[in-house]
Amino acid sequence: MPGEVYQSHSASVKSSVKKTPVKILVVAGARPNFMKIAPILEALAIRGAGKDTVTFRLIHTGQHYDRAMSGSFFLELGIPEPDINLAVGSGSHAEQTGRVMVGFEKVCQDERPDWVIVVGDVNSTLACSVTAKKLGIRVAHVEAGLRSGDMAMPEEINRLCTDAVSDLLFTTDELAGDNLRREGVAPGKIAFVGNTMIDTLLRNKARAMESVLPEGVIEKQYAVLTLHRPSNVDSAAALRRIFEPVRELARILPVVFPVHPRTRANLTAFSLLNADDNNIRLIEPLSYLPFIGLIARAKMVLTDSGGIQEETTVLGVPCITMRENTERPITCTVGTNILAGTDPAQIRLAISSVLQGTIRSGAIPDKWDGHAAERIVTRLLDEHSVSG
Ligand code: UD1
Repeated sequence: MPGEVYQSHSASVKSSVKKTPVKILVVAGARPNFMKIAPILEALAIRGAGKDTVTFRLIHTGQHYDRAMSGSFFLELGIPEPDINLAVGSGSHAEQTGRVMVGFEKVCQDERPDWVIVVGDVNSTLACSVTAKKLGIRVAHVEAGLRSGDMAMPEEINRLCTDAVSDLLFTTDELAGDNLRREGVAPGKIAFVGNTMIDTLLRNKARAMESVLPEGVIEKQYAVLTLHRPSNVDSAAALRRIFEPVRELARILPVVFPVHPRTRANLTAFSLLNADDNNIRLIEPLSYLPFIGLIARAKMVLTDSGGIQEETTVLGVPCITMRENTERPITCTVGTNILAGTDPAQIRLAISSVLQGTIRSGAIPDKWDGHAAERIVTRLLDEHSVSG
């Protein structure tokens, strides 16, 4: 019978053909993405080596492109050269996002991956997740579920949109999972795996501690400042308010300030640097190892970054976050972070409590143990073998 012939042929094909490896595109675009993808690429390489189970390619969107903002991270963290660089560069949000979408659509059409992995909350994360999903490609979001509740933050919009289209949502803590469940994400799509940024920190901490501190700076006798959020640095009034308490601190403790390009441009444009600010040490953005080495040995860190709140928590260094909200509340409830806001009086209070040593010492959040990337790859491959 024709049916019988067909059945036996199909059975023999099944037994002689190996299962095709799952094909994954890993996306990175901007500085805070690079330390998050490094351990994922490593875990994929280990799982895929010689086993024909997984193939992957690294796509750099080129959102950050300077050596200081991008190239040095690849070198220090041993991240392989990107297979494809879309070289989108800077621009308005729509220009940058649009350019990534156009470039990444072509990559997806050529490569036909089974999965796209995106990390964090930058414009590249949003652009690539939406583009992949519209082509019917499954999306895994690493660092899903973080919410500041502040829709004036471009990153919050990126997080919400990325999570809404993702098929697998990897979270860094249980609060993020709660946020996603509250938004109606099916619990089966959420996996609490830990923090890949902390995987990288733990792997590289010893090397970072060997880095040389800026000249004249003594361990535990300086503060570190980083500022780059548009809400803090794009208006003269906002930047001036934050600078007031920092200037006062600098009279008693040197403040080392690796300056993001947008902040440097605005400090100059708003004429905010005085001749008597010589205890505020402006330096170029640092690469990964010297930066971790710098914050690890600081008396305190003042920042508006997201990731630095997590890194200081693991390093046990007091962190004063100069923002009205944080998408990483676990760093305040468990870690060393103080959410001071942007009111100079509140920032002064936080600084005094660190100087007087009246803050509580923090602890390390659950699963921030250096093994998040392995959990991610295991879950992704399990998911693929079930549904792929
Ligand atoms: C981006 C991310 C932010 C992240 C930050 C870390 C978004 C919406 N924002 O903000 O979440 O915390 O990266 O740095 O994706 N520039 C350079 N060299 C570069 C890159 C940028 O000089 O390699 C300058 C350009 O003038 C550019 C400006 O920095 O216009 C801002 O860069 P952009 O990528 O638009 O956003 P970031 O502020 O860096």
